[in-house]
Amino acid sequence: MLTVSIIKADTGGFVGHSAVHPKMIDTATTAINDAIDSELLIDGQVACCGDDLSLIMTHRHGMEATPVHGFAWDTFHATTRVAQDLGLYGAGQDLLADAFSGNLRGLGPGYAELEFEERPSEPVVCFLADKTEPGAWNLPLYKIFADPFNTAGLVIDSKMHAGFVFEVYDLYEEKRIEFDCPAELHDMLMFIGAPARYVVHGVRSKTLGHPAAATSTQRLSLIAGKYVGKDDPVMIVRCQSGLPALGEVLEAFTTAWTVAGCMRGSHHAPLMPVAAGNAHPSRFDGPPRVVALGFQITNGKLVGPRDLFDDPAFDGARRQATQVMDYLRRHGPFEPHRLPLSELEYTTMPSVADKLADRWEPIEGHLVPAQQRGDTKTAIRERGPAQQPVSGS
Ligand code: F6R
Ligand code: MG
Ligand code: MG
Repeated sequence: MLTVSIIKADTGGFVGHSAVHPKMIDTATTAINDAIDSELLIDGQVACCGDDLSLIMTHRHGMEATPVHGFAWDTFHATTRVAQDLGLYGAGQDLLADAFSGNLRGLGPGYAELEFEERPSEPVVCFLADKTEPGAWNLPLYKIFADPFNTAGLVIDSKMHAGFVFEVYDLYEEKRIEFDCPAELHDMLMFIGAPARYVVHGVRSKTLGHPAAATSTQRLSLIAGKYVGKDDPVMIVRCQSGLPALGEVLEAFTTAWTVAGCMRGSHHAPLMPVAAGNAHPSRFDGPPRVVALGFQITNGKLVGPRDLFDDPAFDGARRQATQVMDYLRRHGPFEPHRLPLSELEYTTMPSVADKLADRWEPIEGHLVPAQQRGDTKTAIRERGPAQQPVSGS
């Protein structure tokens, strides 16, 4: 079995939170080459999106393997030292723990991993995003693996017609569930339509049993208990031969979907598909960017990358992202540009609320609590659907 791992971290920005310094890339590349020479890895490459540095690796150690995660941890410490020497911004930002303990779970860096039997020809796309959260993949994954208007193969390829199984994580309560699609599509959408909480972790083919996609599902803000930067996600998608074709996978990014992230991790903004050379969020620390690196994996070797969004076919999505950004920016500190209070990654609300607590005056008689008012909708929301009144009773 072969494992593809993308492990990523923000260990310092150049300039501000916009990009990775070339010396950090050199340091990581040297580490990767040494790991190939010592046969820890079969192959590996370094790639960046914004201020996040990704190690794209193939190996035979399986998922969440100590030697591979330990190697990434050490490499991110080495790039942090470079960032510190150069005085780069937020050096070591995503390294939240003092010591490595077996794997990277909860330590800060994000990772997406897929373990599979390499096919005679193995096309894979590695997606890297900056200034957004793991739930940003929910909508594109739904389009790729469940929407026949995006993916023709769901209707006309006999190996895809039965559909795909989606594994979804509840990031707040640390639970997982599988949805058998299309049969359970409508149930699934109830959850993954709320991407701050419910995140597609993986997808597999029902007909082939193959794992088809994996995402990074760590939320730094939840791990750290306070804002430490958006968790800028990565994703691996396998293509062709009974899985969505490369073009069906990329088609899902021809709309600049609205995602959470951008400035201070606290705004809705459009996700812009860009060539690697343009993956530097600039305007208002955005718009959030996504890069797609295509590889053929041959005997574990990464043949590539091909910079798949370096293509005029995505100019429309880029124009749309700029227009949507213009429109949303005019809202300034108002929702829906600014995230709702519960989702803000930076907030002054507690101190502002404290300061003004004494100045709020009751307005008796004007606002009746929902329960007294018999407001059915609100009451149902508060009681929960299980106790909804049965009609006619
Ligand atoms: C970082 C990010 C940025 C920062 C912003 C303020 O991932 O999304 O938008 O939140 O640049 O950064 P600080 O608080 O470090 O000045
Ligand atoms: Mg940063
Ligand atoms: Mg980042």
